[in-house]
Amino acid sequence: MPSDTAGSWTPVALSADLPLATVMPAWTPAGSIALWRSQSGRVSASSDRCPHRGMRLSHGFVRGEALSCIYHGWSYSPAGGCIRIPAHPDLVPPETIRVGVHKVEESDGVIWVATGEPAEQPPRFTDLVPLRSMTADADISAIESAAGSKAGADGLIHIAHSPWIRLLPTEQTDRTLIHVLIEQGRSPADRVTASRVAEAVRRQAESRQKEVA
Ligand code: FES
Repeated sequence: MPSDTAGSWTPVALSADLPLATVMPAWTPAGSIALWRSQSGRVSASSDRCPHRGMRLSHGFVRGEALSCIYHGWSYSPAGGCIRIPAHPDLVPPETIRVGVHKVEESDGVIWVATGEPAEQPPRFTDLVPLRSMTADADISAIESAAGSKAGADGLIHIAHSPWIRLLPTEQTDRTLIHVLIEQGRSPADRVTASRVAEAVRRQAESRQKEVA
């Protein structure tokens, strides 16, 4: 995963899992975030805590180009500033009311969120298409062992017996989120096969994790 002492990128979700005007919870090494896509398609990553009374913003809703808290409806722009307080419709919220935001990059069907200030852009996967995401109760080394290869500098693990399938893992607090990608041009039947192969690798990784626990 591209990183340096100042920051790194986390592949938090696949683009297909974040439709227009929706919000979802996601995780980075800096903590949980509210990942949301505006009506126009812009993706933003906000801190998952409303500055009003602490409600999780990932439980909120998206209207137009703003993320709103489910509790009292305070709304936040992609830049993090509070832009509306429904109980005081004539008030211009002070600039001090804001949520933290992270830099976001979306490329090749993957959404990346920065922790800190990475010196490089996230890797590109122009010859691959995302298939699905899954979670595993296993760490990355157990997944590498089950797949039969080590993650490359771009974070991808090739499944040794099916190298047209790649796994893009990211460790979370107690599990690993795995995005499954396959080579472009594969058939619908191959997509089904890839999903089953990835699930088999996950099961094997979880077994190996239990053995070393
Ligand atoms: S807790 Fe978010 S608006 Fe009140």
